[in-house]
Amino acid sequence: MPTETNVDPQEPDVLRIFQSKEETKAYYDKIASVYDLLAERSEQPMREKGLQKLAAKPGERILEVGFGTGHCLVELARAVGPDGKVFGVDLSGEMVRLAGELVEREGVADRVELTNGDGAHLPYEENSLDGVFTSFTLELFDTPEIPNVLSEWKRVLKPGGRLAVVAMSKLGKQGFIMKAYEWTHQHFPNLMDCRPIYVQRAIEAAGFEVAATDVERMWVAVEIVLAVKP
Ligand SMILES: C[S@@+](CC[C@H](N)C(=O)[O-])C[C@H]1O[C@@H](n2cnc3c(N)ncnc32)[C@H](O)[C@@H]1O
Repeated sequence: MPTETNVDPQEPDVLRIFQSKEETKAYYDKIASVYDLLAERSEQPMREKGLQKLAAKPGERILEVGFGTGHCLVELARAVGPDGKVFGVDLSGEMVRLAGELVEREGVADRVELTNGDGAHLPYEENSLDGVFTSFTLELFDTPEIPNVLSEWKRVLKPGGRLAVVAMSKLGKQGFIMKAYEWTHQHFPNLMDCRPIYVQRAIEAAGFEVAATDVERMWVAVEIVLAVKP
């Protein structure tokens, strides 16, 4: 049966998310202090490619959803410069605390505003931002919620505003590693909280115009998508 992010019945369905937001928040609060040790090596090069696609410019107002320990916030803050502004929303209070310390240490706290909240409901005016960036976070939202989340991100973007998404992708061959990963996600969602999704397809379905997509390989496929609000 095709789902909202899988329009081709020949392709495997996207799995559901089995954790509540409270459980997700508690999970990231718990692993925040070791997150970089666990994920930095594999995820950092993918995030960089996403930031390059977004290409934030001096003076712009950019939002990052699910900023984690805050490395991309620092890069975005340097790119927008003293006349720009970077907003961040993350569900985990611990991540907000760590990222806050990082932007302070890196000397860019004056142009960064962090909010502890759910990226599905943003505290920003419509048509107010030039860009939205997110890495390894869209695939944490449950399948029926993804269209609403993308609509919310579209609401806050100005017409012509850019969305750059880096996320684990279900495109391509489903090898042994992917099958083992998804099995673990289904049986131990407290260990593997996210799952691969059809990224470009979900973004197009939400009414964005896709400008570029790269499919890279980490230990799974990763889609890096740049899209524009018409
Ligand atoms: C897998 S980590 C990725 C962190 C960072 N973007 C990176 O690439 O290193 C996911 C992040 O999204 C946050 N998160 C999870 N669900 C969220 C939600 N509903 N709204 C906002 N942030 C969320 C988590 O707290 C965590 O910081």
